[in-house]
Amino acid sequence: MKAAIMGYGVVGSGVGNILLKNADIIAEKLGESIEIKYVLDLRDFPGDVLEDKLTKRFEDILEDSEVKLVCEAMGGTKPAYDFTKRLLEAGKHVVSSNKELVATYGYELLGAAKAHGVNYLFEAAVGGGVPILRPLWQCLAANHIEKFYGILNGTTNFILTKMYNEDMPFDEALALAQKLGYAEKDPTADIAGADVCRKTCILASISFGKHIDPDQVQTQGIQDINIRDVSYAKANGYEIKLLGYCRKLDSGKIDAIVSPFFVPKGNQIATVSDVFNGIVVVGDMVDEVFFYGRGAGSMPTASACVADLIDCAMHDKARKNFGWGARDAGFVENHSACQGSYFVRGEGDIHAVKAAMGDVTFLSLQGAPLNEVAFITQTETEGDLDRKLAGIPDFHISAKIRVLV
Ligand code: NDP
Ligand code: HSE
Repeated sequence: MKAAIMGYGVVGSGVGNILLKNADIIAEKLGESIEIKYVLDLRDFPGDVLEDKLTKRFEDILEDSEVKLVCEAMGGTKPAYDFTKRLLEAGKHVVSSNKELVATYGYELLGAAKAHGVNYLFEAAVGGGVPILRPLWQCLAANHIEKFYGILNGTTNFILTKMYNEDMPFDEALALAQKLGYAEKDPTADIAGADVCRKTCILASISFGKHIDPDQVQTQGIQDINIRDVSYAKANGYEIKLLGYCRKLDSGKIDAIVSPFFVPKGNQIATVSDVFNGIVVVGDMVDEVFFYGRGAGSMPTASACVADLIDCAMHDKARKNFGWGARDAGFVENHSACQGSYFVRGEGDIHAVKAAMGDVTFLSLQGAPLNEVAFITQTETEGDLDRKLAGIPDFHISAKIRVLV
């Protein structure tokens, strides 16, 4: 079967590599080979093993009836949305690693795929090389998903690991993540949490059956994490991790948030370091399952893309019934109205804190200034917590970080 790759960067070149290197196992599984006919990119790649397949014309792929499979690894929504839609409408299967595109236009593109009897698959868009979307959709199909949470960004987990376990400065850790091909073209999407938000939206759409848009999920990145808070976490049995978190509420709505969390060291997520991702899913029948692996990088991500290509080729005639419903504006609850527990650090009088906050757990840190007060709250809404904190006389808040409970 003939295939095309759109975008010959970190992921696209990995896809090319795997299709060439592992052609034997792919052909054995499929009963035929996947042959690369075109590679679309804006750049030239002199001397590259696929140089003779390069084109700068999208129409070469669109108009070639021999091409049945396309891997989109360009990134962004323009022109990826337009290209993907036209390919699906032309009856070609499309696989993608582009979470921005799926989180924004997934519902519409899945609809286009359905209407034209082809597949639109994007296993690589969440968790890089970690199998998560297919297991969530297929293997956990017998469950109501109750919640999921996890480390969904390799770059920031890599940076946090390098900074806090190896004392590497932020800029150096980010530059290394970029060199290793982990970061987005604009790494602000990693650092400020937009990338985790997109992945959380995709997981939530699959888990809860309605398209969740990135603008529905409150998002905070790692830019405000302070070394003192990391020290408090470590001294008191926690790690700080950037998580995507989502759960079904009794009201039928969902609570979704992207934010740094204090994660108890006993939780598997706390052990996930470097570029690795880890995702916990809780279903009402299966209880808890944990997915772990490399969340970014050329080969792990391409491994997921190529598996999708194989899946499309295997289901060329029998379209996979994969998708979710349209956006429902009221489906995501305002996060500040949802119950949660928080780490709070500030300067003030511990007796005044005690009087206002009631039953909280005070944390200690060797060498901390005498007027520094740090504690973990009981479970309450963020709105209630903020009201109580505002009522503590002369208490200056330096940090407020969610705690995974
Ligand atoms: P790269 O920037 O390395 O590669 C993208 C390639 O696509 C570049 O060569 C780029 O060319 C080319 N391209 C962009 N626009 C066009 C266009 N209009 N026509 C033809 N070619 C184009 O990105 P990655 O490979 O890292 O990422 C690709 C996608 O995969 C993104 O959506 C990313 O979020 C996602 N992803 C990345 C992972 C990773 O570990 N890197 C992991 C999982 C997902 P130019 O450089 O000239 O713009
Ligand atoms: N920039 C992303 C990350 C790529 O670091 O996780 C994988 O989606």
